[in-house]
Amino acid sequence: MIDWHLKSFDELSRDRLYAIMRVRQEVFIVEQKTFYLDADDTDQTALHLWAEVDGEIAAYCRLFGPRIKYEECSIGRVLTHPKYRGKGLGRSMMILALEAIQTRFGTAKVRISAQDYLLGFYGDFGFESTGKRYLEDDLPHTEMLRTTDKK
Ligand SMILES: CC(C)(COP(=O)(O)OP(=O)(O)OC[C@H]1O[C@@H](n2cnc3c(N)ncnc32)[C@H](O)[C@@H]1OP(=O)(O)O)[C@@H](O)C(=O)NCCC(=O)NCCS
Repeated sequence: MIDWHLKSFDELSRDRLYAIMRVRQEVFIVEQKTFYLDADDTDQTALHLWAEVDGEIAAYCRLFGPRIKYEECSIGRVLTHPKYRGKGLGRSMMILALEAIQTRFGTAKVRISAQDYLLGFYGDFGFESTGKRYLEDDLPHTEMLRTTDKK
């Protein structure tokens, strides 16, 4: 059974915060073999969205209101734990994330920094490349913008 949670930083229990930091490090630092400072001092301003299966974090992302990462809202640290990949959790999470942004911030406009191999994945949710391409933590990224909830 999958339980979805959406919480501000202050609402996170110590154990949940630890589990979130752990799964982010497992995926982005250990699995993707990158060196970067994951605890970047913006979690305090983010909303944290995750799926829990048997008490374990199966998928996670963080959401930002406008004027934090970009002028627009943003979504970051999008991950599914390797054990739970390919089962649709990533897609479900993106739908919930965009709904949460619409509800909390009243906008469909979202700007993200996407790993290049996922341009198609984000494209399915209405994100389009802005043409800005760069290396972030040594991995190829493209900036993507979603301006409307219509594809
Ligand atoms: C991207 C990610 C979150 C997808 O999670 P998931 O739960 O496996 O996703 P879903 O099961 O909902 O799959 C949805 C789609 O993701 C895309 N996708 C997933 N893994 C992919 C891969 N390795 N390469 C290309 N597309 C991929 C596919 O389009 C897939 O669609 P399909 O089922 O029609 O083939 C997961 O692969 C992940 O955690 N990757 C590592 C972390 C990462 O790179 N995050 C993105 C930072 S920008």
